[in-house]
Amino acid sequence: MVFGLNQLIVLKSRDEIKRMAEACRIVAEALDGVKKIIAPGITTVELDKFVESFIISKGATPAFKGYRGYPASLCTSVNEQVVHGIPSIRKLKQGDIISLDLGVYYRGFYGDTAATFPVGEINRTAKSLLAVAEEALYKGIECAEAGRRLSDISFAIQSYVEENRFSVVRNFVGHGIGRELHEEPQVPNFGGPGEGPVLVPGMTLAIEPMINEGTWEVVILDDGWTAVTGDGSLSAHFEHTVAVMEDGTYALTKL
Ligand code: MF3
Ligand code: CO
Ligand code: CO
Repeated sequence: MVFGLNQLIVLKSRDEIKRMAEACRIVAEALDGVKKIIAPGITTVELDKFVESFIISKGATPAFKGYRGYPASLCTSVNEQVVHGIPSIRKLKQGDIISLDLGVYYRGFYGDTAATFPVGEINRTAKSLLAVAEEALYKGIECAEAGRRLSDISFAIQSYVEENRFSVVRNFVGHGIGRELHEEPQVPNFGGPGEGPVLVPGMTLAIEPMINEGTWEVVILDDGWTAVTGDGSLSAHFEHTVAVMEDGTYALTKL
């Protein structure tokens, strides 16, 4: 364990990381499966059902269902919805973008991943938002190496996003993950470099930039969950669970 300011980061052994990788593989396969059924006309609750059945068929448990009262296995956030959109009978239509966020619990460990997908043909701005948000995640992962500081991840993400004239959501952050879905440390997607704990082998982090087309500010809808952009502009979200190891950092939720 590493003690930082106000936080206790649980380090995982190589063996624990191997086991975590199994949870991560299941969640990655679930995401890969559900992305193939995204099409105009499908409802978000159908996507949730697919993911839930897939996870259960692998002997794993959906991590989000019941988490702080969340009602589904999948978060489905369409267009201006940033995160935590609740599956409903809303039908996707051509030109929408949809962020899918899902987690599983398997044999003692959690895996957490997210990605944003186009529904049919989408416009240029939407394409660019998706590309920048996904690349921002990889810029963050590149900095998540043993010996660097935690906020190097944050700085890499924010710089890349703002160079591309999009904005980074501040209200939600990435997190440690392992035997709990959310562990220390928080992993913000904004901030200066060279701060926070030094990254060491055994740290397992969920890095998850949320990127808006316009303002970074968000509003929570009356359902108590759905976060939307303050100005109604589009938002995208990509997430991997990664393990910092001696010989490099591995995105465990990447197939
Ligand atoms: N979006 C969160 C994450 O990736 C988890 C959502 S919890 C839920 O860490 F309850 F909303 F599902
Ligand atoms: Co997630
Ligand atoms: Co997460």
